[in-house]
Amino acid sequence: RTIRREDYRPPAWFVPEVHLDFQLGAEQTVVKSRLDVRRSKSAKYQEPLILDGDDLLPVSVRVDGESWTDWTLVEGALHLPLTGASHIVEITVEIDPSTNTQLMGLYASGGMLCTQCEAQGFRRITFFPDRPDILSRYTVRMEGSKADYPVLLCNGDKTDAGDADGGRHWAEWVDPWPKPSYLFALVAGDLVANNDSFTTRSGKEVELNIWVRDGDLPRTGHAMKALKDSMRWDEQVYGREYDLQLFNIVAVSDFNMGAMENKGLNIFNSRYILADPEVATDADFDGIEGVVAHEYFHNWSGNRVTCRDWFQLSLKEGFTVFRDQSFSADMGSQALKRIEDVRILRAAQFPEDAGPLAHPIRPESYQEISNFYTATVYNKGAEVIRMMHSLMGADRFRKGTDLYFDRHDGEAATCEDFVVAMEDGGDADLRQFRSWYETPGTPKVSARLSHDPQSGTATLNLSQQVARTGEKPEPSQMVIPLRTALLDPDSGEHEGEELLVLDKPEQSFQFEGQTEHPILSINRGFSAPIIMESSQTPEELAFLSTHDDDPFARFEAMQQLMTNYLTARVTGTPADRDIVLQAVGAALSDESIDRAFLAELILLPSEAFLGDQMVVVDPEAIHEAREKLRGKIAVQFERKFRRLYAQCTPGEFSLSAEARANRKLRNVCLAYIAGSQADDAAALASDQFADADNMTAKQGALSVLSHMEDKDRGWAFDDFYNTYRDNALVLDKWFTLQSLSQRGDTVKRVKALAGHPDFTMSNPNRVRALYGSFTANPVRFHDASGEGYRLIADMVIHLDAQNPQTAARFIPPLGRWRRYERGRAELMRTALEKIAATPDLSKDVMEQVSKSLA
Ligand code: ARG
Ligand code: ZN
Repeated sequence: RTIRREDYRPPAWFVPEVHLDFQLGAEQTVVKSRLDVRRSKSAKYQEPLILDGDDLLPVSVRVDGESWTDWTLVEGALHLPLTGASHIVEITVEIDPSTNTQLMGLYASGGMLCTQCEAQGFRRITFFPDRPDILSRYTVRMEGSKADYPVLLCNGDKTDAGDADGGRHWAEWVDPWPKPSYLFALVAGDLVANNDSFTTRSGKEVELNIWVRDGDLPRTGHAMKALKDSMRWDEQVYGREYDLQLFNIVAVSDFNMGAMENKGLNIFNSRYILADPEVATDADFDGIEGVVAHEYFHNWSGNRVTCRDWFQLSLKEGFTVFRDQSFSADMGSQALKRIEDVRILRAAQFPEDAGPLAHPIRPESYQEISNFYTATVYNKGAEVIRMMHSLMGADRFRKGTDLYFDRHDGEAATCEDFVVAMEDGGDADLRQFRSWYETPGTPKVSARLSHDPQSGTATLNLSQQVARTGEKPEPSQMVIPLRTALLDPDSGEHEGEELLVLDKPEQSFQFEGQTEHPILSINRGFSAPIIMESSQTPEELAFLSTHDDDPFARFEAMQQLMTNYLTARVTGTPADRDIVLQAVGAALSDESIDRAFLAELILLPSEAFLGDQMVVVDPEAIHEAREKLRGKIAVQFERKFRRLYAQCTPGEFSLSAEARANRKLRNVCLAYIAGSQADDAAALASDQFADADNMTAKQGALSVLSHMEDKDRGWAFDDFYNTYRDNALVLDKWFTLQSLSQRGDTVKRVKALAGHPDFTMSNPNRVRALYGSFTANPVRFHDASGEGYRLIADMVIHLDAQNPQTAARFIPPLGRWRRYERGRAELMRTALEKIAATPDLSKDVMEQVSKSLA
């Protein structure tokens, strides 16, 4: 069944107060609820009270104190034909957390009990109007075995606790802030806390806890620092202060997504909490900082102001991703963070926008909302907020968000409410800008710069092209902010950057006082999430890659130069390799470049990205062309790579920018040295592996070894396994690196690893490590035999019976079948059809498969 945005109706009943009583047990948990229900004054008809349920049966129902039998179950929901204006409804249900393999609702993970309610998991715990525009005050009593669950946590503040009979104990929690059911959370387990505190700007002391299993306590320091940094940053940059006495975070091993912003009780996938240098890479440290910040920022952008319905998901997610991106950039490097954010956008969102699952950041319809926690809603959503920030400037943007938080505090709002608040508070006209919310697809912009030496005028002709979609006959004209500079062709200098706003199909801009034909630097900082078609010459791109003072634009020019060369080679078109080599050489000898930035600059575009630039994708041809160029760069600059490698030798471990830059560049150099086929490459990587005192170096070495023969890589994988077999997060890396290997036998290897005693389908991290990584290995996943496609299809069918949400995430890689050459396209389609023909598919997988085949 399809749910449509236009069908939104306000609720017929509200639930201002909720009391929940949990008698916890892994096999049986009894949930008693007492709901104070009020008929909406604006309800026109006497609608029954409808309480959503998923896999629930009522054990008892009482209304206003009387036992009540006048109810029916309709598609899992409890219908009660109540006639008064308000009632007290009491319901008892029994659930079994131990068999909850979907990891939605209340489930068991590593001996503890925990919840995930967003988007529609609360209805698996108790009957309730499970929609985000029902805001309720929650009082919760939870009781369980003191031995199994010494720690009992819920939202808000703990108001009381005590012992009960039979070795049990209980706690009572009250959350003073009305909230939607998707923000409910509960945890019971044998946990220890990293306990700290934060004093807010108004002088309130907040207790902070990060709860983990006993041995993990030493790995919580980075997350705690990130939390305190986030709390300070949100006060300083957005004027947002925390609003409870207590902030709890719990790390769990089995989790479908990254983390969840439950009010006062964030629950995290342990991979976004646990880190120390021995087990976590620098990228892992960054992931933790970003996700901790993201969930904390939701306290305002998501919790205090929530979403009216799930079509508005980007209201909280796009905005919050923008907030966490800005935070991470402030904590580290603006340039590196922007490069990373754009890389993610292009790797995950652009393909989505170009494929059968394309949707606007505010979708018009869905079958299963879990399928819409997408790169489009999150990352393109963040880009849309970022464009408002660019168009309005920081001060007016802040006035807008102040008004938004102020006006909608305690409400369930819409994307439209956000835009109106930005207009009112920030004195902006965003009428045309709204099309970003309703238009799927990545706009294309073409730019042509001409120059008239007589008048000294440069003219920039811009035009935009928005893909036509089924839903709207006339594509909208987008408002596209383009940070632009014209560089002097000799010095590379410019007289200041301008923000050009393209808001018509075609537009031209004139620049006076240009004695020579300038070099165009456009969409600097990736100011708009578009595809730029500027048809710049290799010489211009090479110039920009050495001279542009905007680091993103500089990086982008090099990427474009390499991409143009490689896509030409794949299609057999002649192209100039020397200019690419010269540009790389210039970067390598530029003493003024930061080492982390240099590492980015000399990295080749990924095979997946190259495929996205082609009309017909041939993964093998792309792989070959890219490897060839990589080998050539490696040979040409081998001495340089070796010298840099030696210069980046690590000293004492530190998370300083300088130390991290050294680790990053050292790994990139190692990979190039290996790419030169040097005799000592395996020995060099093996030494780095053996000597490493940190996971960044260890993983970098193992990654290089992973593509080599067994005699070179075997011992290292064994050593890694033996050292880290008891650390699930590190063991994930062991699986990941084997799945990412370019060796011809990788498909076989992945199949064998599925039977490894440490592989399990019930842990989403492990499933993603083995199979998710495999789908991110283009040349092996797209093996011409179709073996990779069949492997994923069979896995999806198997996993779907257990965990539909995670299973559905594996459809998009197959769903792009139309983009591939005929043979592969056919095999991919066949794999999808096999999934589609499976009986009893979940809604999640069914929606993705049927859209992919349509
Ligand atoms: N709101 C969470 C976050 O962005 C994600 C929760 C998604 N959960 C889900 N079942 N789809 O951090
Ligand atoms: Zn979020």
